[in-house]
Order: sequence, then C-alpha cells, then structure tokens
Amino acid sequence: MSLTLRPRRLRRTPTLRRMVRETTLAADDLIAPLFVTAGHGILRPISSMPGQAQRSVDKLADEIDALMELRIPSVLLFGIPAHKDAQGSAGWDAHGPVPEAIRAIKRQAPDMLVIADVCLCEYTDHGHCGILAPEPNMGDVLNDPTLELLVRESVAYADAGVDIIAPSAMMDGQVAAIRAGLDAAGHQNIPILAYAAKFASAFYGPFREAAESTPQFGDRRAYQMDPANGREALREVALDVAEGADMLMVKPAGAYLDIIRAVRDRYDLPLAAYQVSGEFAMIKAAAANGWIDERRAALESLLAIRRAGADMIITYYAKDAARWLLTE
Ligand code: PBG
Repeated sequence: MSLTLRPRRLRRTPTLRRMVRETTLAADDLIAPLFVTAGHGILRPISSMPGQAQRSVDKLADEIDALMELRIPSVLLFGIPAHKDAQGSAGWDAHGPVPEAIRAIKRQAPDMLVIADVCLCEYTDHGHCGILAPEPNMGDVLNDPTLELLVRESVAYADAGVDIIAPSAMMDGQVAAIRAGLDAAGHQNIPILAYAAKFASAFYGPFREAAESTPQFGDRRAYQMDPANGREALREVALDVAEGADMLMVKPAGAYLDIIRAVRDRYDLPLAAYQVSGEFAMIKAAAANGWIDERRAALESLLAIRRAGADMIITYYAKDAARWLLTE
C-alpha cells in the first residue's frame, strides 16, 4: 500500500496523543454547585443526584475543604429557605441560608470564589422565578416588578460578601437592573455572570427536587427559552452584553453545544456552561446499571463542553472530575 495520508501516525502512543491534544480540562475550569438549606445539622442526600446533598451552613465546611484540596476555584450557591411566600421574600433575608453560607465560606476559605445564583423560584411558594399577576391573569410572571426583587436579593448576597452574582430568572432587563442596584449599593466591583441563554429544559428535573423549586402549576416556557431557538439565544446574549454582563453562561450544556460554540465565536467575554442536574443524573443512572463507564463518560462530556468553547463548566461532577484528572 502506498497511502501517504495517515492521520493515525499521530495517534500511535499516549505521549503523541497528549502532544497533539487540542482541548484541555482542568480543576481550574470547574465550578461546583452547592445546595444550602436553612436549619442545623442537615446533610440530606438528593436521591436523583447521587453524591449530592442539601446541607445546612454548619455542614458545609468538609465539602469546602474537599473542594479546596482539589483546587476547584469556585462554588455556585442555591438556597432552600425555611419559609416560602408569594414574593420569595426569604431571598433577600440577610440571615437566609445563602448569605450565611457566603459568610461562612469566605471566613473558612477566603480564596474560594463564591458565586450566588439569583432567582426567586427557590423562595416562592408557587415555585415560579418571579412574582405572579393578580386575577384575571393569575399565572403570568410579572417582569418589571420581579426585577426589583432580584435586585434586593443580589444586594443581600453582595452585602454578605459574595464574589460573583449569577442571575438566572430569565426576566428581561435583569442584568441592567442588578448592575444598577449593585452599583447604587456600593458594589461596583461585583461581577455579573449572566445566565444569558437559559432554555426551558427537561434536564432540570433532578434540580427541582434538590432545590424544592418545582412550579406548582404551569411551566417556565413564558420566560425560559424555547429549545428550538439558536438565533434567539444570540439575541439574548447580545442584550446581556449590552446590559453590562461581565461573563456569560449557556445552560444546559450537553444538548446546547452549538449555542456554546456560536456564543464563543461572537463574544470575547468569559463563557461558562452549566452541565445541569439531568445531564449528571443520566450518566449516574447509566453507570449505576453498568451500562457506561462513569469516569470516561463524565470526562468526555466535560471535554466536549470545553471543546465547544466554554471556559468554565458548572458541574455536579466537579469533585469527581478534579480527582480523576489527577490520574489522567
Ligand atoms: C433557577 C435554576 C434552575 C437551575 C439553576 N437555576 C432550575 C430551573 O430553572 O428550573 C437548574 C440547574 C440544574 O438542573 O442543575 N433558579
């Protein structure tokens, strides 16, 4: 045979493959989500997300130590309050689970970057991400009145010492409103990581058990994006950039790699992607059945998100992946 074009030449040995590898994955790229619940002494496993748990603030320290040990630079906090109401007022309680967790983590590990998700769905009794219109339009999520509440929540987190604010409610104008609110409260240096393109996804299922945030009626399709729309995602991103976002996010990740790539190609801001609860649960479930090699599948899924163009990945696999990468 006189074949001259033999791409396999560069795949022959592990060292050669390592030398020509285009994409890397490192602990530095990973952000670990944490569910913080009100109360004391609580470490409640989440059945649909093996290895993940709701923790009260007094039970966070071991997890923070483990993440620091693995050089994971950042956590993303979600709160589960003691009481919910129609406005989600627990969201801006200075002594709610998230502000208390922020203070505790920054005291324990000042170098750990603490990101707080800003949304109302964990705090409202109806489970929607904003406040509802009165009759006869009951069920409509009101955009502008919700903005004020998202600002209050953001300022409460910033006052507690958060490093980065990540608004995820998908209300129009939320980045501009939060930027103005943070600035007015003296928090000009707190960056905003905008959930810029967040789709109305079935892959959020396990999270809603974890955060106890399932909508009590209806769904989120009137504010989160239609999974069919790629061009609209770019318009959403353009708005968040214009409103002052410091970093962008695409969510979910695995089924939206094309969106990650398109955003990467058009914008120069740091880009995060969120490998959401359902993506994690699918790999876990298949692995538990012996149908898939968990380590290889999880690392491949994360590498694909990096290859698509994400700088950072929010993932429930953060700790496992960082550990596996030590022996890659
Ligand atoms: C909303 C929020 C959700 C997730 C992160 N922020 C749920 C939703 O929009 O219903 C989902 C994350 C995941 O599935 O891991 N505050």
